[in-house]
Amino acid sequence: MQTLTTIDELRRQVRAWRQAGERIALVPTMGNLHAGHLQLVDEARRRAGRVVVSIFVNPMQFSDASGGDFERYPRTFEADCEKLTGSGADLLFFPAQEEMYPAGFENVTQVAVPGISDILCGAFRPGHFVGVATVVAKFFNMVQPDVAVFGEKDYQQLLVIRRFTEELCFPVAIVGVPTVREADGLAMSSRNQYLGAEERQRAAALYRALQAAGERLSSGETDIAAIETAAVASLEEAGFRPEYFSVRRAYDLLPATANDTELVILAAAWLGEARLIDNLRLRRG
Ligand code: PAF
Repeated sequence: MQTLTTIDELRRQVRAWRQAGERIALVPTMGNLHAGHLQLVDEARRRAGRVVVSIFVNPMQFSDASGGDFERYPRTFEADCEKLTGSGADLLFFPAQEEMYPAGFENVTQVAVPGISDILCGAFRPGHFVGVATVVAKFFNMVQPDVAVFGEKDYQQLLVIRRFTEELCFPVAIVGVPTVREADGLAMSSRNQYLGAEERQRAAALYRALQAAGERLSSGETDIAAIETAAVASLEEAGFRPEYFSVRRAYDLLPATANDTELVILAAAWLGEARLIDNLRLRRG
């Protein structure tokens, strides 16, 4: 696996692959790779002869890029390289912030997906999805992949990316990969390492709350508000500070009604210093 840091070098390599008739897959990440990311690389490998993985902690998608979450986001480049070396990745793109945002990111051209970016996580993290969509669109233009692979754990992010890809006519197939979980059900995430030992024991309560709500919906219950309220109470009892717990339509994330069949239950909740998100897809009827 080769590691490149400049857009020029990246383009040269991608052009050579294209001229040789290769299909190219992109797996954008912020590093601190775990088994979930490696599943994305596996899926990319199945779909293309060449796999590019990017590692870039994107300041534009953090609300306080000069401190807080952005500063403490785990950067583990050496360990990430080791993990990728044994994976199906051909190229690691690891640009500096100046390479991605030479004039800074505050006044850069933005990709904004209205509506879906402002609800759920977007309501609690204003500007977050503009930062995500902008950086992913930049990667699409740099790599020009045939396919790009993302985790379904960030379900809202996946829909935002699907929307702008379609609406801006990027010729890129967007593939979602199911969430990889720890043995107790906790979704794998770089942010899990912010959990203390005792919090880690309780963290799987988030997935259990999603499953409990899913069972109530599957068994035909139609009072969605009651299901959401019960889930929030169960999370609070487990020591979480929930931001939202919501049953939505899977394709556009609008609030679900009793007649909708393709559903997703999404939740975000703080446990100590960690903001955890998770979701559960569900088909009714
Ligand atoms: O999911 C992530 O790690 C990031 O949001 C992404 C898609 C790499 C954009 O920075």
